[in-house]
Amino acid sequence: MYRMIYRSRSVEPLNWEIVRSITSVSERNNAAAGLTGILLASRSHFMQAIEGNFEDVNAVFRRICRDERHSDLSIVGFSIIDARLFGGWGMRGIGAFDFNKQIEQAMKEKYGEEEGGIHFPLEEWQALAMINDIKMMRELPEWKK
Ligand SMILES: Cc1cc2nc3c(=O)[nH]c(=O)nc-3n(C[C@H](O)[C@H](O)[C@H](O)COP(=O)(O)O)c2cc1C
Repeated sequence: MYRMIYRSRSVEPLNWEIVRSITSVSERNNAAAGLTGILLASRSHFMQAIEGNFEDVNAVFRRICRDERHSDLSIVGFSIIDARLFGGWGMRGIGAFDFNKQIEQAMKEKYGEEEGGIHFPLEEWQALAMINDIKMMRELPEWKK
């Protein structure tokens, strides 16, 4: 099994409506392909982790690359994994633009800022650390199942 992580720039400022429109289609497609993952959205950028078989991860990534809702895709990681981090989540959307002020400030201090929001990492270990931080938070909107 593989986990791909990439980041990209949104062509328009992100909000829940856009995130939900992506995750609702993704949930359906990904469940059918045995893919799981998480989609983080700051005001200006996406960061996504996708887990599954080599062919399935690549197939969805090729589709995602062609999507005109974002640009400037950078692969942050592509690794062989033993176990999923996001089992059960076809594609969980996280609005990093919607964190409470205290959490947002703490994340900015730890990971930096870009365009007024939290900076999504360019290195895989930092991306996983950020995802882990977010997983540890209980009060996130959209996080509760
Ligand atoms: C940031 C971002 C993440 C996406 N993630 C997924 C995903 O995980 N799975 C998926 O099927 N589509 C995802 N999409 C949507 C695809 O780009 C595409 O619109 C969708 O799969 C439908 O493709 P089709 O019209 O070729 O069937 C994502 C789009 C964006 C902009």
